[in-house]
Amino acid sequence: MVEVSTPRIADLRVQNFRFLRDVLLPALTPFTVVVGPNGSGKSTLFDVFAFLSDSLSIGLCAAWDQRGRFRELRSRGAQGLIRFEVTYVNRERRKLRYVLAIEETGRGPVVAEEKLLFTRGSQGRPFTFLDFAHGEGAAMAGQAPDQGAERRPQTLAGPDLLAVSALGQLADHPRVAEFRSFVIGWYLSRVSAASTRRLRLGGFPRPVRRSGCHPAATTCPTSCSTCPSIIPSTGTRSCGGWRRACPGSPR
Ligand SMILES: Nc1ncnc2c1ncn2[C@@H]1O[C@H](COP(=O)(O)OP(=O)(O)OP(=O)(O)O)[C@@H](O)[C@H]1O
Ligand SMILES: [Mg+2]
Repeated sequence: MVEVSTPRIADLRVQNFRFLRDVLLPALTPFTVVVGPNGSGKSTLFDVFAFLSDSLSIGLCAAWDQRGRFRELRSRGAQGLIRFEVTYVNRERRKLRYVLAIEETGRGPVVAEEKLLFTRGSQGRPFTFLDFAHGEGAAMAGQAPDQGAERRPQTLAGPDLLAVSALGQLADHPRVAEFRSFVIGWYLSRVSAASTRRLRLGGFPRPVRRSGCHPAATTCPTSCSTCPSIIPSTGTRSCGGWRRACPGSPR
């Protein structure tokens, strides 16, 4: 019998996304605290999660436009693509990696690289079962795409569309659907220093995003220049009152 656990983010690499020119968070634990001085990129890091979640729910174009496109999103002075790599551990404790690289043309954002891979320990070569660029690519269907599944070429309706978003709604791509659900189910709560003043009177704000059962990122209610921000992906402990604002957060 396969042992089932709560999915979680294992590591994250971000390139050319605002302040995060090339950042690797190699070992995210179920309860991760990010501490840094003002302007060191804590909120930007949270927005990586929000951007990915938005891109798979409202669409890449909308997520891109809302954040001011390449002009605002790409690290100042950088020439490369904006690129993310997220490794996630699924319910069966298998590691999947999602790679997404975005460029911009005069017509808007374009997906330059989108991949889903099964990683095979530290030695084995990762197995790519979804591989798209510019709206063209292929994916392997089924529960075990790394065990001889058929590679099916697909064409998306535009170069700005995400294959995970499209194929993740099809029943014959359960591994893609699993990842898509995981990302769009992230629970992100933002509490600013100003809003914490109101907390004392009105209690915790209601969740600002979808209620997922696996909170991915939140900010401590007392977060400001002195208090760390917190990224619990499935944690074993949680911090004071924000538990009420994060349905599904661990006790
Ligand atoms: N496109 C960009 N390229 C490079 N830097 C950027 C870009 N856009 C914003 N920044 C800078 O990123 C820095 C980090 O901002 P961010 O809000 O993530 O920091 P923070 O750690 O959350 O700070 P605070 O503790 O004040 O909330 C800011 O100094 C901002 O000027
Ligand atoms: Mg901030």
